[in-house]
Amino acid sequence: MALTLKIGNPRSYRNLSEKGEVGTSSDLGCEGQQEQEDEEFECLLGANGQVVLWSPRRETVLSRFDFAYPPDLQAQDRSPNSCPQVDSDGDLHQNATTLDLVGEQVWRGALFLADFILHYSDIFRGKHVLEVASGVGLTSVVAAMLAIKITVTDVDKGEILELIRRNLKRNEDVLKAEVCVKEIDFYNHDTIDDLQANNKDVSVILAADVVYNNPLTDAFFSTVLRLMSDPPEKTMFIALEKRYVFTMEDMDSVAPCYEYFLDGLEWLRSQRTDHIEWTVEELPSDFEQYFTYERTRHLVLWKINAKLKQP
Ligand SMILES: C[S@@+](CC[C@H](N)C(=O)[O-])C[C@H]1O[C@@H](n2cnc3c(N)ncnc32)[C@H](O)[C@@H]1O
Repeated sequence: MALTLKIGNPRSYRNLSEKGEVGTSSDLGCEGQQEQEDEEFECLLGANGQVVLWSPRRETVLSRFDFAYPPDLQAQDRSPNSCPQVDSDGDLHQNATTLDLVGEQVWRGALFLADFILHYSDIFRGKHVLEVASGVGLTSVVAAMLAIKITVTDVDKGEILELIRRNLKRNEDVLKAEVCVKEIDFYNHDTIDDLQANNKDVSVILAADVVYNNPLTDAFFSTVLRLMSDPPEKTMFIALEKRYVFTMEDMDSVAPCYEYFLDGLEWLRSQRTDHIEWTVEELPSDFEQYFTYERTRHLVLWKINAKLKQP
């Protein structure tokens, strides 16, 4: 069975078209046809295989992420007819994504992590899951199909938190979890303090594609340390794509941000060892693919467990 998630994304259309990766798709499902007729959407195929619905009149972009629903989940959890509805109002279209607002598009790590969640659904079922730097919230939407509660967070810049709220609303028919959208800013741990009561039963943390500059990576790891130091014991899953660049200095292709991330993992392992027993491991990436995107060998998944020692 195929399901569709609707993700409003004000910036992806122009980015895709600039890269010349947009083509016309004739593969619109019936609800898409309805949207096209009612809302004058043009249907385009996005870089990750998603159908991008673009309304020139309304300057609105919606991405449809079709995915195969895992048969075991189908049997346990869902009626086959409960496809999500579309709410196409309200997204502003802007010309480009600045580095500051990189959250307002779906990165491949988000789809990779969403596949992992669907494949290992038991890890997430009935849990309170927290996602950091969630961007438009696609991974959280998938986790919310299984979890009992999902706290979706990002830095409060641009309209990202509002966009997450709208995307959760768009897909509410497939969500099981109670949802909460709040700010966590890696550079401002007061935002974590503000969530203390909310976070007291979080046992799983998610992050996708949060590693693209070194200062942010440092801030990310100090946030991870902070979040994982408090009870209850937590497990974190981090999906990322190693981004290779050719440097004259190395005369080779290197992935400096990923190297820096590995250093960050080492740093984390050495923190608060009197209080925390860390387990850090890279997970195999050969789990089933349900979403459509290029599953490159540069996509990696790390698991961190923080077992809290008795005082
Ligand atoms: C490359 S995007 C990934 C978004 C999403 N996880 C995905 O994979 O599609 C990086 C994310 O980091 C977030 N971010 C940037 N600075 C941050 C900060 N100081 N604290 C928390 N998140 C931040 C961005 O808003 C953005 O959502």
